Amino acid sequence: MLKFYLETFGCQMNQLDSELVDTLLRGIEYERVDTWDGADLVLFNTCSVREHAESKVYSRLGVLRQVKLKRPGMIIAVIGCMAEQEGKTIAERNRHVDVICGPGQLHLLAGLIQQAAQWKKRAVALTGKFASMSTPLEVAVPYGRVEDLDRERTSSGQTNAFQAYVRITRGCNKFCAYCVVPHTRGREVHRSPEEILVEAKRLAEAGAVEMTLLGQTVNHWQHEYGDGRRVGFAELLKMVHDAVPSVRRLRFVTSYPRDFTVETLQVMAESPRISRYLHIPAQSGSDAVLQRMNRGYTAEQYLGLIERAKQIVPGLRLAGDMIVGFCGETDADAEASLELMRRVRYMNCYMFKYSPRAGTTAARQYEDDVPEAVKQERHAAMFTLQNSICLENNRGMIGRTVEVLVAGPSKMMGRAADVKARTRAVGELQLSGRTAGDQVVVFDGPLGLVGRFVPVLVEDATTLTLHGTASR
Ligand code: SAH
Ligand code: SF4
Ligand code: F3S
Repeated sequence: MLKFYLETFGCQMNQLDSELVDTLLRGIEYERVDTWDGADLVLFNTCSVREHAESKVYSRLGVLRQVKLKRPGMIIAVIGCMAEQEGKTIAERNRHVDVICGPGQLHLLAGLIQQAAQWKKRAVALTGKFASMSTPLEVAVPYGRVEDLDRERTSSGQTNAFQAYVRITRGCNKFCAYCVVPHTRGREVHRSPEEILVEAKRLAEAGAVEMTLLGQTVNHWQHEYGDGRRVGFAELLKMVHDAVPSVRRLRFVTSYPRDFTVETLQVMAESPRISRYLHIPAQSGSDAVLQRMNRGYTAEQYLGLIERAKQIVPGLRLAGDMIVGFCGETDADAEASLELMRRVRYMNCYMFKYSPRAGTTAARQYEDDVPEAVKQERHAAMFTLQNSICLENNRGMIGRTVEVLVAGPSKMMGRAADVKARTRAVGELQLSGRTAGDQVVVFDGPLGLVGRFVPVLVEDATTLTLHGTASR
C-alpha cells in the first residue's frame, strides 16, 4: 500500500474537503500516515484567507524541496484555496510540486495524482483565473463533479463518526471587499434538498449525533424545484431536523447577517434538537467601514437582528468574526467595533488583523493604510475586551449543569488541570467536549464517555474553558 500524508489549513469547508480526499485516496489503495517521512504522497489542503495561512504552506514547501532531492519519487500536491489563488506562483517557484488542484476540481484529484506519478509531469486542475494552466486529464475518473465526492463519502465529516459536516452550499456570491473566498471557491452552488437529506440520513445511521450544515453563507441556501416551487433555508433546516431524529445537535455555520430570516429563528425556537447557536460575523461596528467592506448592512441593522434573535430564541449563544485595521479605519471606527461587541456580548469571537489579498476589491481600490503597529494595538484592545466578556459569560455558568458532547481527552495542561490530576481516580482522564452553544468544557471521566452526552456541573471558569464534574 502507498502512504499519504495530508495536512489541512483553513475553515470547516477545508476540513470537510480533506475528509473527502481521505476517502478518495483510501479508495485507490493509499493509507494515511501521520508524518511526511516515508510518505509517497504529501498533500497540503490550503487556505488563502490571510497571508499568514499562505506563508505556513510556503515554508512547508521550502522544507520539502530538500526532502524531495533525496526522494524524487515522492508526489507533492497543493490542493484547496491557495492552489486556486496562487496557482501561478506555486507552479513557477516550486518545481517540486507535482499536483495543483483547486477546491472546485477535487473530483479529479485521483486522476491528477496518477498522471503525475506515471508521467513524472505536473498535473494541474484549476477553475478560476488560472484555469488555462490546467492540464488535460487523460485517465478516467469516476466522478463528474465535486459534489459526487460528498455523496460517495464513507466516513463522516470529521475524525469522530459522532460529529458530521454536511455541505449544503459551496462558493460565495457576496464579494466582501477584503475576502478571497468568492475567488477561490467560485460562485454559489446549492445542493438539492434530496441530496442533502440522503447524506444526512446516511451520516446519522453511521452514528452522527451532532451534525453541522456548512456553507460560507449557509442561511442563503435556496432551491427551486422543476415546477417553480422554491424552498429556503428555514424549510431545509426543518426538513433535516425531522429527517434525522437521532441527531441531538443540529447546527449550521456560517450565517450571513443580511440573509437571516425570522422563519429560521422560529424553526430554531421550535426545535429542541437544533442548537441555540449562531456564528454570525459582523466584521465591524462602523457603518463607514461596513460599507467599504461591501457587507450590505449597518451596525444598527445588525444589532436589530441580534436583538430579534435573542428574543425569539431564548438562551441563544452567539459567535462572531471581526476584522481590525481595514482600509481607512479610524480610531472612532475601531471604537465602534468595540461598542458593537459590548452590545452583542459574543460567547466567542474570532478577531483578525486585515490582510490585503490580491484580486479582491479592497486590494484594487483601497490603500492598506492602517500601520501594522496600529492594527496590533486595536487587535490587542479588542482581544482584551472579548476576554473580559468571555470570562463574565463563563463565570455566569458556574453552578449550572450543562450537557457536554464528549470529544476526547483534553489537550489542556493548565494549572487547574494539574491540581485535578493529583486527585484523579484510577482509570479517569481529563476529558473535553462542547455544549450545544459551543462552549468548551473539561472534566474527569473514563474514555468510554467519548461520543456520549454527559451532564456536567460547572464549578470553575476561565476565558476559554468551563471546568466541572460529571453528574452520574
Ligand atoms: N463566510 C464567512 C467567513 C469566511 S472567512 C462569513 O462570511 O462569515 C473567515 C473570516 O476571516 C471572515 O469572517 C473574516 O473575519 C476573516 N477574513 C476574511 N478575509 C480577511 C482578510 N483579508 N483579512 C483579515 N481577515 C479576513
Ligand atoms: Fe468572504 Fe463575505 Fe463570502 Fe464570507 S460572505 S466568504 S466574508 S465574501
Ligand atoms: Fe480559507 Fe478557503 Fe476556507 S480561503 S477560510 S480554506 S474557503
